[in-house]
Amino acid sequence: MDKFVIKGGPRLQGEIPIGGSKNSALPALAAALLTDEPVTLRRIPRVRDIRTMQRLLVDIGSQAEVDGETIRLHTPRIVSSEAPYELVKTMRASSLVLGPLVARTGRARVSLPGGCAIGARPINLHLLGLEQLGARIQQAHGYIEAEAPDGLRGATIHFDRITVTGTEDLIMAAVLARGETLLRNAAREPEVADLCALLSKMGAQIEGAGTSTIHIRGVEMLHGADHTIIADRIEAGTFLIAGAITGGDLKIVDCVPEHVGALVAKLLQAGAEITQTDASSVQICVPKRLRSVDVTTEEYPGFATDLQAQYLALMTQAQGIAMLVETIFENRFMHAQEMARMGANIRLEGRQAIVAGPSELTGAGVIASDLRGSAALVLAALAARGETVIDRVYHIDRGYEKIEAKLARVGAQIRRVE
Ligand code: EPZ
Repeated sequence: MDKFVIKGGPRLQGEIPIGGSKNSALPALAAALLTDEPVTLRRIPRVRDIRTMQRLLVDIGSQAEVDGETIRLHTPRIVSSEAPYELVKTMRASSLVLGPLVARTGRARVSLPGGCAIGARPINLHLLGLEQLGARIQQAHGYIEAEAPDGLRGATIHFDRITVTGTEDLIMAAVLARGETLLRNAAREPEVADLCALLSKMGAQIEGAGTSTIHIRGVEMLHGADHTIIADRIEAGTFLIAGAITGGDLKIVDCVPEHVGALVAKLLQAGAEITQTDASSVQICVPKRLRSVDVTTEEYPGFATDLQAQYLALMTQAQGIAMLVETIFENRFMHAQEMARMGANIRLEGRQAIVAGPSELTGAGVIASDLRGSAALVLAALAARGETVIDRVYHIDRGYEKIEAKLARVGAQIRRVE
């Protein structure tokens, strides 16, 4: 198992380019199942979750050609409508094939994801929505079986709570359903809008993408398309915080500044100097110690839960007391205990973390427990005195492409050891 060895201290300076969004690429790959024509997807990040999804699609019947960051998927025929436990247990986003499979073949068998490091993460809302679109859902032997032999039909679906992949799954089901579908209380994340942009290029009729009410008029078939995935806003946010926590001067390029708006607002309040240098770059400069600023995670356009861990690392170095409230997942503070081993002063109370800063962090051996929590440990290590060894970095490799190379290029002392 790989480890990162990080020596804290250097101020990060220079430019970091942002790759394509993992959470946008995953539904886009699943969407390729909706047509028997080739779909070309560009700016696909080379991370482990993408390779897992690609394996699943090949099992289902897709031919995949990879050329750098471009993947061409062609699925003339579905050979298996199943997402097996072996894949779903390593990546919950595998459930994104549920909607496309039922829409295209009238049948899907998808393993139920089990528990997860950050919370229970059920998929009941995906299933409820599919039932409303006319699918019959049964559960047996740890699998969900969905059947709609006569095809799906449009319906009005009101989500009980906002779900990102749930919204994406049902959009993909509804684009080939007979009649009209209205999704209310839908997720407004940029990744949902990006999926709708791809589906529209494939011939789907969708209105309201990026808003909480999405209107879909079902079509008989979809065709091939060529689509470039949006920039990864969580990667961009992680590097903005890397600039802040090292008191550095970093330019984050090839990103969508608007997508990190909630984080930028907090960093400005904390005292960082941030300028949007052009339509796709943001510069952060932190010449003096930051002030603590509270954060509550929310659905987009609120403060992303996927940046909460990294922000917690930053607040250990800010002056004062910050309260972080996690409203999306019930167990997303595993990184706090590891940071405490490095000297952070964090008290956990249910879904709240109270951080008193600044504390002097010192390098230690720590264990990565989930994707964003591990990225937060890298950030804490950049600010710590001495050497930190982070074990189980395969969690980071799920969602960050070459994070160590990108950080090293702007001055971090970080290396991967096998
Ligand atoms: C997506 O997960 C992202 N994953 C997550 O990113 C992200 O943290 C999350 O959205 C929230 O922004 C992908 O896009 C692949 P949800 P998702 O359904 O869709 C509850 C990362 O680090 N819920 O929006 O699985 C659920 O338990 C990952 O890149 C139900 O109760 O999250 C949670 O409390 C981690 N029933 C809340 O809704 C359901 O059927 C939001 O979850 C579905 C969800």
